[in-house]
Amino acid sequence: MNFKIALIKGDGIGPEIVDGALKVLEAVQKKHDFVLEYTEVLAGGIAIDRKGSPLPQETIDVCKASDAVILGALGGPQWDNLPGDQRPEAGLLELRKSLGLFANLRPAILFDELKDASPLKPEIIGEGLDVLVVRELTGDVYFGEKVKEDNAAWDKMIYTRPEVERIARVAFEIARNRKKILTSVDKANVLEVSRFWRSVVLEVAQEYPDVTLNHLYVDNAAMQLVINPAQFDVILTGNLFGDILSDEASMITGSIGMLPSASLGEGTLGMYEPIHGSAPDIAGQDKANPLATILSMAMMLRYSLNMEKAALEIENAVRKALQQGYRTVDIMSPGMKVVGCEEMANRVVENL
Ligand code: IPM
Ligand code: MG
Repeated sequence: MNFKIALIKGDGIGPEIVDGALKVLEAVQKKHDFVLEYTEVLAGGIAIDRKGSPLPQETIDVCKASDAVILGALGGPQWDNLPGDQRPEAGLLELRKSLGLFANLRPAILFDELKDASPLKPEIIGEGLDVLVVRELTGDVYFGEKVKEDNAAWDKMIYTRPEVERIARVAFEIARNRKKILTSVDKANVLEVSRFWRSVVLEVAQEYPDVTLNHLYVDNAAMQLVINPAQFDVILTGNLFGDILSDEASMITGSIGMLPSASLGEGTLGMYEPIHGSAPDIAGQDKANPLATILSMAMMLRYSLNMEKAALEIENAVRKALQQGYRTVDIMSPGMKVVGCEEMANRVVENL
């Protein structure tokens, strides 16, 4: 079997973490006898420098014609002073939008081996922390009208009924196959858009009587995540709150360098990227943690390529590398063996 994969390495640590992930995919392909045909395309800062746009049309076309997109990370200080719509990040947002990837799944799973790396006390973490953030990805204040005047600026926070319905359905369907607890996060005590969000989620809930639905205000949710994370199963939320809460949730797992993501739309095309950024301060130093990207490859196999077994094998190989004591600096704790990005990827490959 052959699959077409669009490859966007991006900026900063993007190329090194993607290279690590590609090694892992190479090993999986041999084992399971399938072929990934990569087409490398540009987006982000490197695309600005080489093509004059953070998202060249060619990139969109190649991604649309692919079975899945692998993305490293975009952005860096050298592009920070560009106008908002020309920044590297604008390319990422436009790519998500033009591919229709409205559902962003960000699983925060704490590997037992990394309990020491979590900033939370063991008694707070509890056993087997496993929270899935379902973040709406193509709406909200990210994509509402943006206005900049001389003495004021604003971004419109807007959700339409179809947008809320479809992301709510994704979250309910997933919750149905997990612990059946769904927490919808909003700011309905202040924002009209949140009151609307909540009312639509309640309507969709009628179709899922087997799932227990709770609502939390985002400020409270942020607090609950650090005082009682075990109460969560699936968190459903909008684009901005999801961005913030997923970074917070990731730290509970030891490091933002551990969290993978899948961005999905109506079909099977998905984009797979770590949730962290391009970390320009450590780029090119072989210090980055490739595990979030490697775990994103497992999600790609699961959601876009329909190869659950291979996905589980990657996840187990990562767990084993952690069991063997290998740590990148971000998840280092006393007595463990510190390794670089490349070495960590090699350890995972060996375990496959
Ligand atoms: C993320 C990132 C992006 C976002 C940035 C880089 C535009 O923080 O994927 O979480 O805000 O969505
Ligand atoms: Mg983010």
